[in-house]
Order: sequence, then structure tokens, then C-alpha cells
Amino acid sequence: MASQKVSRVGVIGAGQMGAGIAEVCARAHADVLVYESTRELAAAGRARILRSLDRGVSSGKLTEREREQASWRLRFTSDLGDFADRQLVCEAVVEDEAVKTEIFTALDKVVTDPDAVLASNTSSIPIMKLGMATQNAHRVIGMHFFNPVPVLPLVELVTTLTTTPEVTERAEAFAHDILGKQVVRSSDRSGFVVNALLVPYLLSAIRMVESGFATVEDIDKAMVLGCAHPMGPLKLTDLVGLDMVKAIADKMYDEFKEQLYSPPPLLLRMVEAGRLGKKSGHGFYRYA
Ligand code: CAA
Repeated sequence: MASQKVSRVGVIGAGQMGAGIAEVCARAHADVLVYESTRELAAAGRARILRSLDRGVSSGKLTEREREQASWRLRFTSDLGDFADRQLVCEAVVEDEAVKTEIFTALDKVVTDPDAVLASNTSSIPIMKLGMATQNAHRVIGMHFFNPVPVLPLVELVTTLTTTPEVTERAEAFAHDILGKQVVRSSDRSGFVVNALLVPYLLSAIRMVESGFATVEDIDKAMVLGCAHPMGPLKLTDLVGLDMVKAIADKMYDEFKEQLYSPPPLLLRMVEAGRLGKKSGHGFYRYA
């Protein structure tokens, strides 16, 4: 039933975003099943979530008991067939359209509830393309979380031409009433609301570095002190991941063919060099 409250959740992928989504679902008392393709990736995903839960305890946001209970609500599998009874599944794998469409085709075949929410955390791939990879495009929607997921309160809800109001309401009720997130709605265009504004800003900061206009440190300092941003654009690019920023920019450029979305050569070279930001230990800054 569309109105039934979501309590059985699936998360596909336990990287930075998937782990964060799984964590907030488990903290909100959902039964959470997480897919990773190998045991090693599942172990790394579980460790990532446990580290973040520990951080919640050390900053006084969680009690020891809440941390324990959240960790018991998390199970891992490498078999998509295990997702049959899920009421909401959120996909958070690499920003690669082919990989995502394959997952949606497979999930659609196994998830039995006709009004289950099949959501993607994509930042830039049109949700309609993922819907068309299924036989049930009415239950496909975008649920876009922000990094770090346990900290940032926003979810962008992206409906397509075919998402039904029932599925949209179910996804919104889950994000707002169960996870306690604030929801904004967006049409299905690459970048949605936040990245349509954020990505040109990040790319402009990279162009400033590239042209020698100002240093990395000064650009970040300027935006932190001059505009009260929690971090500057280059540190934020490191946090999001340079490969991710490039992937989003490429998709937005494909969609709009506007120069402001075109990734600058410095970003391309840094990605080629493996300087992906915080996750690789080196981006615009170095990390221990
Ligand atoms: N998990 C759990 N809690 C975390 C956390 C994590 N990964 N990271 C930080 N926190 C908590 C800390 O415990 C701390 O809590 P208390 O204040 O209660 O102690 C609080 O968040 C602040 O963290 P810190 O004091 O360690 O550090 P900070 O004050 O420098 O904040 C930050 C760090 C939260 C990342 C902050 O700098 C920030 O919000 N930056 C902007 C991030 C942003 O813009 N994200 C969006 C990126 S775009 C995106 O995600 C979408 C996309 O498609 C690209």
C-alpha cells in the first residue's frame, strides 16, 4: 500500500554517500539492507558507518546504546535478490549512467511492492533515464542527499514525468517524518537545484587557481570569512571528490551545452593524476 510507512530500506553502495544514507536510516530505526558487490567493499562500508557512529557518540549526538542499536539494524549483502521485501531502495553507486541503469533494471525485477520507492541519489543523471530502464517508471524518483549525510539536513526530491504522487508522497514522508530531513522539490534536469548553483561556483574557483588569479588558501579564506561559508570552494571540491565534481560537470555540460559547466583543464589533469581530494589523500590540499 502506498500509504504504508516505510520501515524496510535498501541502500545500494556503501561508499561515502551510500554509507551516510544507510547510517541515517539505521539511526532513524529502519531495518537497513546494504548492497556491496564484494565482501571487502561491504567490510569497508560497515567500517565507514561505524566510524561515523563513533563520531556521533563522541560529539554527544548519540548514546552508546543508540550506536549499538543502529549497528544491529544494518545488514550487508552481495545479492540484489535479497531486496525483494524492501519498501524503499536508495541507489548510491558511482556517477555512471550505465552502472545505474543496470541496477535499476535489476532492482525493478526483484522488489515486489508495486509502490515501493526506487530512488537514486544521483547528482546529475536524469531520473527519467533510470525510470526508463525499468518496467515501472512510476516508482522511480530522485532522492539527493548531501555530504556529510548525517550532518546536512537537505534532501532534494526529484520527480519525473512519470513518478506517481503516491510514490512522491511516500518518499517525502520517509525523508521528512522518519529521517528528519528538510525536503525541496526539483524538476528532473541535470544538477537539480543545488548543483545547478554549486558546480559553476566550484568550477569558477578552479579556474581562478588555474589562471594564477589567487591562491587556493586565499580563495577558500575569502569565501569562509567574506561570505560565512562553512568551507571554501576548493576544500569543498576536495570533500565532494574531484572525480565526482568532474562527472557532475560533464553531465550538466551534456544537458545544457553551456560553457559555465565545462570542467577546466586543471580539474581534468588532477583527476588524471589521481588527486581526487580527501578520499585519495591529495587534492587542492593534502590529507594525512
Ligand atoms: N559524520 C557525522 N558527523 C559529522 C561528520 C560525519 N561525517 N562530519 C562532521 N560531523 C559533525 C561533527 O561531529 C560536528 O558535530 P558537533 O558540532 O556536534 O561537534 C559537526 O558535524 C561539525 O563538524 P566539525 O566540527 O568536525 O567540522 P566543521 O565544523 O569544520 O564542519 C562540515 C565540517 C560539516 C563538513 C562543514 O564544514 C560543512 O558543512 N561544510 C560544507 C559541506 C557541504 O557543502 N556539503 C555539500 C556538498 S555537495 C553534495 O554533497 C552534493 C553533491 O551532489 C555534490
